[in-house]
Amino acid sequence: MERIRTQVGIVGGGPAGLMLGHLLGLRGIHSFILEDRSQEHVIERVRAGVLEQSTVDLMHEVGLGERLDREGLRHEGIYVAFGGERHRIPLAELTGGRAITIYGQNEVVKDLIEARAASGEPLRFEVDDVSIRDFDGLPKIHFRHGGQPHEVTCDFIAGCDGSRGICLPSIPASQVQIYERVYPFAWLGILVDAAPSSDELVYSLHERGFALFSMRSPQVTRLYLQVSPEEDIEQWPDERIWSELELRLHTRDGWTPHRGPVTQKGITRMRSVVVEPMDHGRLFLAGDAAHIVPPTGAKGLNLAMADVWRLAGALDKFYDSGSETELRAYSERGLRRTWRAQRFSAWMTSALHRDNSSGDSSAFDQRRQRAELEYLVSSRAAMTSLAENYVGVAFD
Ligand code: FAD
Ligand code: DHB
Repeated sequence: MERIRTQVGIVGGGPAGLMLGHLLGLRGIHSFILEDRSQEHVIERVRAGVLEQSTVDLMHEVGLGERLDREGLRHEGIYVAFGGERHRIPLAELTGGRAITIYGQNEVVKDLIEARAASGEPLRFEVDDVSIRDFDGLPKIHFRHGGQPHEVTCDFIAGCDGSRGICLPSIPASQVQIYERVYPFAWLGILVDAAPSSDELVYSLHERGFALFSMRSPQVTRLYLQVSPEEDIEQWPDERIWSELELRLHTRDGWTPHRGPVTQKGITRMRSVVVEPMDHGRLFLAGDAAHIVPPTGAKGLNLAMADVWRLAGALDKFYDSGSETELRAYSERGLRRTWRAQRFSAWMTSALHRDNSSGDSSAFDQRRQRAELEYLVSSRAAMTSLAENYVGVAFD
C-alpha cells in the first residue's frame, strides 16, 4: 500500500476540485486531487458555458485570466423570446456594468489542469474504488491506481465529486437532510459547427416548449430543446432536432439559428438538490456534490466556484491562525447562496418551460406564464431582478 500525507485530500477533479487545489496552492497549502475518469474525458465533457462576473473575476485573480480574456465572449445582454418577438435584457446597463462571459467549462478545466501540472502538486486520473473514512479524527482516502492500493491521510477532505460521487453517501443518513425537486423536463443539447446567428443568448418559450440558443465561440453554436425526461436520444435524428429548434426559436423579424454539422448531442434531466449541512466533521462538500440546480439559470458551475473560493479562504484562516470559525461557518454561508440560486433557477425554469404534466391546470399556467414574461420585459424593476441574479452577486 502506498501511503501519502497531505493537508487537504480532494475527491473529484472537476471544476470545483481543480479550482480548490489551485486556490490552496496559491496559499502554500498542499493538496492531493484524485479523479476517477481520464484527463481526456474530464476535458472533453460538454457542459456549462456561462460564467458569472464573479467567476471571471476569480479566474483573473488566480492568474488564469489570459486565455479567458482572449477567447471568452463577454455578453452584456440576453434575449428572452415569446409570442414571436425577441426582447433584450441589458444586463450590464441594469447592474452597473456586470456581465456574463461565454467560456466553456471544458476550457476552464483545461486551464486548471495545466496550472496544476505546472505547480507540481499531485493530480491522479483514472483512480478506482475510492472510499473515505475517519472524518472526525484524521481523515483518510483509500483508492486504487493502476491496480495498486493507496491511502491518503489528510487534515481535511473536500468532497468535490459531483452528483454521482461517494463523499455524500459516506455521511451517515441521519446526519444530513437532502431536499430534492425533480422537474418534469429534460434538455436535449447539441453542439454545432456553425457561426452563432446572434451575438447574445436567446431564451425562448414557444407553445411546443422551451428552446435556448447559446454558443461556445465565433465558430460553434450550442442549442437546447426542452424534451420529456423519458425521451430517448435515438428518436431524435438531426433533422428532427433542427425542425423543432427552428419552430421554437424563429422570431417574426426573421431571426433563426444557423444550421451546421452536429458534433455532439445528449439529454440531461433536470432536478434541484440541496444537502444540509454541507459539512460533516472534517469533510466539506462543494459544488454538485452538495447541490444541483436546473440549468435554466446557468448557476451550477458558478455556485461550485463560490463554494471553493469560500472553502479555500476558511482553510487558509485555519492554517494561518488555527481558527476554525470560518470553517464552521462554511455550510451556513454556502446554503444561503445555494437557496438563492435555487430560487432563481426554479423561477427561470417555471417561467420558460411548458408543463404538460399538470392536466387541467396547464391552460391556466400558460396564460399566467405569458403574463409573467410580458411583465418581465416591460418592467425595468423585473428586468433588473433577473439581471442581478443572472450575472450573479459577488462571492460571499
Ligand atoms: P463535476 O463537474 O461533476 O465534477 C466532479 C468530478 O468528480 C468529476 O470529474 C467526476 O468524474 C469526479 N468523480 C465522481 N465520483 C468520483 C469518485 N468516486 N472518485 C473520484 N472522482 C470522482 N452550470 C453553469 O454554471 N452554467 C451553465 O451554463 C451550465 N450548463 C450546464 C449544461 C449541462 C448540459 C449540464 C449537465 C450542466 C450544466 N451546468 C451549468 C452545471 C455544471 O456543469 C456543474 O454544476 C459543474 O460541473 C459542477 O462542478 P463540480 O466540480 O462540482 O462537479
Ligand atoms: C448554456 C447552458 C445553460 O444552462 C444556460 O442557462 C445558458 C447557456 C450553455 O451551455 O451555453
